[in-house]
Amino acid sequence: MSPDADHIEVIYPPDKIAARIEVLAGQIAATSTAPLLVVAILKGSFVFAADLIRALHRAGLAPEVDFMTLSSYRKSTRSSGAVDILRDLETDVSGRHVLLVDDILESGRTLAFAKDLVSARGAARVMTCVLLDKGARRAVQIAADFKAFDCPEVFVVGYGMDVGHRYRELPFVGHVVHR
Ligand code: IMP
Ligand code: MG
Repeated sequence: MSPDADHIEVIYPPDKIAARIEVLAGQIAATSTAPLLVVAILKGSFVFAADLIRALHRAGLAPEVDFMTLSSYRKSTRSSGAVDILRDLETDVSGRHVLLVDDILESGRTLAFAKDLVSARGAARVMTCVLLDKGARRAVQIAADFKAFDCPEVFVVGYGMDVGHRYRELPFVGHVVHR
């Protein structure tokens, strides 16, 4: 049942997303031959990360993968400002080349927090990769090393991203049109 599918306007369709990920994977593979640890920041990045690591494989890399669940959004669609670790990494990142993967870079607090954390734990190199960049809403100064798309100033869902735990399963990035 997908009663709400027609209330969501597609912004980035599956083929556009796939094409960008292939390009990003090539760029990431070109940066270094050092063994890479991909850290997917959950929950929102899980679909993006799953596609990205397979594109990295096609680009000739064999990344390790770990996960970290961070929360800056409570139930609302407005950032609370604070970032909590809901689930930490299992991997020791000291000396590692780490690629942090997130769905959206908005205020920047989530990615800056993750970057600081992994750096403080002694990572040799920390790079960041986001699916979407909402550049106009930055609160802390951070830019992603790799990004798939600039995102319009609307609340987006799909391709792993949710509103109130819904719509993560959609194969595209879209925005909910309230009627
Ligand atoms: P930041 O800490 O403000 O950069 O927030 C980034 C996080 O907020 C992302 O990882 C998302 O989980 C969430 N987020 C920001 N904008 C949206 C949106 O439009 N849809 C869904 N989640 C969002
Ligand atoms: Mg997130």
